[in-house]
Amino acid sequence: MAIVYHEKSKEFHLYNNEISYIIKILDNNQLGNLYYGKRIQDRDDFSHLLKGCLRPLAAYVFENDYTLSLQHTKQEYPSYGTTDFRYPAYEIKQSNGSRITNFLYYSHEIYSGKKKLQGLPATYVEDENEATTLEVTLFDEVIDTSLVLTYSIYEQLPVITRNTKFIHHGNEKIIITKSMSASVDLPDSEYEMLNLAGAWSRERHLKTRRIEQGTQGIYSMTGTSSAEHNPFLVLKRPNTDENIGEAYGFSLIYSGNHLEQVEVDTFNRTRIIIGIHPDTFEWSLQKNEVFQTPEVVLVYSDQGLNKMSQTFHKLYRTRLARGYWRDKPRPVLVNNWEATEMEFTEEKVLQIAKAGKKLGAEMFVLDDGWFGDRDNDKVGLGDWYVNNFDKLPEGIVGLSRKIEEMGLKFGLWFEPEMVNKDSDLYRQHPDWIIATPNRRTSPSRNQYVLDFSREEVVDYIYGLMEKVLGEANISYVKWDMNRYITECYSVGRDSEMQGMNFHQYVLGVYSLYDRLTHRFPNILFESCSSGGARFDPGILYFAPQGWTSDDTDAIERLNIQYGTSYVYPISSMGAHVSAVPNQQVGRITPIETRANVAYFGAFGYELDLNLLSDEEKNKVKEQISFYKKHRELMMKGNYYRLLSPFENQDTAWSVVSDDQSKGIIGYYKVLNVPNDDWKRLKLRGLNQNKQYIINGDPKRIHFGDELMHVGIIIDDDDFCNNSVDFSSSLYVLTEKI
Ligand code: GLA
Repeated sequence: MAIVYHEKSKEFHLYNNEISYIIKILDNNQLGNLYYGKRIQDRDDFSHLLKGCLRPLAAYVFENDYTLSLQHTKQEYPSYGTTDFRYPAYEIKQSNGSRITNFLYYSHEIYSGKKKLQGLPATYVEDENEATTLEVTLFDEVIDTSLVLTYSIYEQLPVITRNTKFIHHGNEKIIITKSMSASVDLPDSEYEMLNLAGAWSRERHLKTRRIEQGTQGIYSMTGTSSAEHNPFLVLKRPNTDENIGEAYGFSLIYSGNHLEQVEVDTFNRTRIIIGIHPDTFEWSLQKNEVFQTPEVVLVYSDQGLNKMSQTFHKLYRTRLARGYWRDKPRPVLVNNWEATEMEFTEEKVLQIAKAGKKLGAEMFVLDDGWFGDRDNDKVGLGDWYVNNFDKLPEGIVGLSRKIEEMGLKFGLWFEPEMVNKDSDLYRQHPDWIIATPNRRTSPSRNQYVLDFSREEVVDYIYGLMEKVLGEANISYVKWDMNRYITECYSVGRDSEMQGMNFHQYVLGVYSLYDRLTHRFPNILFESCSSGGARFDPGILYFAPQGWTSDDTDAIERLNIQYGTSYVYPISSMGAHVSAVPNQQVGRITPIETRANVAYFGAFGYELDLNLLSDEEKNKVKEQISFYKKHRELMMKGNYYRLLSPFENQDTAWSVVSDDQSKGIIGYYKVLNVPNDDWKRLKLRGLNQNKQYIINGDPKRIHFGDELMHVGIIIDDDDFCNNSVDFSSSLYVLTEKI
């Protein structure tokens, strides 16, 4: 059992071989934190780690006792206003107007395994022995409310997950105005903060800053996790790099408004709070009602950022993503969006599919434009049935049959949460959009957001989608979400409940995903949000892959995929080869480089293959067969970042199989340099005693230690003599037996 309770010292020690997390029931019966970091040996009493003394201006919990001032105490789930003046983890408005609370230890339970979270995505176990859980219940007698803090520690991974639940027993209603998933206090502030920031077409670029006294943080108030700030941050020591040093990762399993805030107090202690954004949030609880926060995942690494990311990858790929497709090789698909946008005919898409089939693709995906009167983005969203039989004479049923007859699987695009005013749905239910009475409703991409916080709206959309998916042969769904939420108000809810809308909306999205994935367990869902604006762990629970970005330019993708890899496995990153000049940046890159980048993801094509030259078609054929041969390794291998595009001209990354017998390295030169240096690239994760053959060349056989410590020679031929801008090389390593 990886959690012990020391009765005498009232301390909980959560540990496995790699990490320790120590909680203490303080003298005032609130919960303090004594330590979180690399595994230390257990002992009966760690209370010497608590520090308290008389300090001017400090307020104290007890009279004539200067040991306990909460301002100076590391805590588990702090409140404001009872001697702590830092940002709290929660706040509750009470009927007398007070926001002061006092949750005291009441009981605890330790058990094997990990429970599901009601209505919310979360990591899971397949076997009870994979994790141990501690639930501590605290109680505030004045408001008659319980607070349950839940911690699970994985046995084989340096991972602790946390979530929080309020259960109200009192007769008088309370209003929760803030409830973070976790608060973590660290004893010093020698950290840099890493986070993933961006915008449409340049999502999840890595940002690094030194933390300072005061607050710093990231957030989304868009109604989704957003392209601007992913719900993830890292605190790392200044000397930590990809391969050495300490790093603490925090990732929120949630797809709506979120806040990740780092506060350094003037005594250089650091508090991280992470959870649903408290602005505009209000959740009222009547007697016997419960509020459950999303889960947050804490990963600790003492071996640099690669190890931290590999831990997230393993957890998210195998114990967050679920279902039929979780471990299956993902089909190589051809998507028609960049080829035709909405202007297609059945004949045209069949031609594209046919070319794909000829070159080895396994699935054809019909993107936007097949439903209602959809010929442009002003019309049709919400009408999930075929109206235009000029475009699709036999509807989706007929098209999917024809695609399947070609020997391909068929996939279809939806944007379930949206509506255009020019649609049957809006004409029937104009009050189903999110809009504030007597106020302007702001359009975005000519569309409006359906009020998914209302069950009847979700039910209706489920009905339409269920019919299409049930009638036709559909193996894949691309679920898009192309705008943010404004003027957030629900006419389905009383005025004092309006603070629930944003979160209820997310719960509505999850419930639709849940119903559809249960009804159609074999369909592969790919999430999308104008590219990667909702690429988060919450969605990953339902959709094992997501469209990483609308930017399909290979060079832009280096930044995007590299940044995304800090937390998300490459199996979750939709990555397609598209046409040149690239639609987003106009750049012309070699087709080899486009594939060399896209291989490190869920691979496919996003262009009209018929327009390629014969030579290019041959290359595509080879690329598809290369990917099929190596996709298992790409999906399940350990991924290493080797050269950062955020710090270097060149980029490199690799995957290495668990048994270290195979590896693939991607090296991207980006701009050509005349008469360039000699280059060697130091590899990671190989077995030092194994010999590896590079690209099947019997003249290039090297021990793992040489490849890791001296480095692999970057091909002179490729880069010295024949190089052009945007060139790249792939190295396939196989163990010499
Ligand atoms: C979004 C997606 C694209 C495509 C279009 C269709 O922008 O990110 O991949 O599906 O919508 O309208």
